[in-house]
Amino acid sequence: MKYKGQSDIIVNIESLGGNIKVMSEQLLDVKYECTHPSCQVFCKKGEFTIEEGEFKELLGMAEGDEMFRSPGACRMGYNQVFKAVSTAPVDESAVSEEEKDTETEVNVFTILMDEHEKVLETLDILDNQVKKRDLDGLWVSSSRLENDILLHSIKKEELFIFPFIRENVTMGEALCGIMDEDHREFISLLHAFRVGLQENEVLDGLVNSLIVNLRNHIKKENNELFPMASEKLSAEDNQTLLPKLEELEKAHITLDPGNRSDMKLQAMSEDRAQIEAEISSLKTVSSVGGEEMCCGGH
Ligand SMILES: [Fe+2]
Ligand SMILES: [Fe+2]
Repeated sequence: MKYKGQSDIIVNIESLGGNIKVMSEQLLDVKYECTHPSCQVFCKKGEFTIEEGEFKELLGMAEGDEMFRSPGACRMGYNQVFKAVSTAPVDESAVSEEEKDTETEVNVFTILMDEHEKVLETLDILDNQVKKRDLDGLWVSSSRLENDILLHSIKKEELFIFPFIRENVTMGEALCGIMDEDHREFISLLHAFRVGLQENEVLDGLVNSLIVNLRNHIKKENNELFPMASEKLSAEDNQTLLPKLEELEKAHITLDPGNRSDMKLQAMSEDRAQIEAEISSLKTVSSVGGEEMCCGGH
């Protein structure tokens, strides 16, 4: 038995008024109300799926045709008398169709959104390390973030995903332009922050801007840009883009954070041309074959 949200099941009891017809191996979706007078908060009403045989046993454990004992402890921690509000057989073919749909829903955008989740986790770690003034921890996690931005944002999005969006989404050109600018800002902030770290400084203003802006950027992509683009993505488009992202992933060489005390990072000029040059060189060193190979595949 599983409560709704924990899993999936259902029965075909045509009448709870006494004449219970049960089909073997059938699963039932049962909606219930707890009859305990003080049960008001968590499980007054609910739904779960259960094998019909098991449900029949529970019906036999309580007085009244529509009454049954809760399967195990109820959510308040007790075995209670529940009233069955309705029961319905689980349509297993529908469940498997649903699973199939879920499988086909995986596309380049859902993959990128999964990657966003990992970036958000890194941002949480970074946030925490800033509070603890954990310089060495920040050195490693900021390097991981830099790698993620290079692979996910600068390579996957800018080389293959944004060109698709520019072509297929209304206002795609302008929207991707904003996203491109964001990416450069992140690289710039991150680099300057790491320069500070190697000088034993935690530049709070920089890192806080980075965290807030990157979280907002992910929100914009997740909630606006990618859903719009997803609507325009055909199965064929997906089949074209997917291998390109996979190639980038395989070719990407993760940059080693190195030793913080080596002081190898140079302060980055605010000059846009220099930022572009740095991004370009980072692409080169972090790819087998460098930037030319990435663009060559486009
Ligand atoms: Fe992204
Ligand atoms: Fe992005």
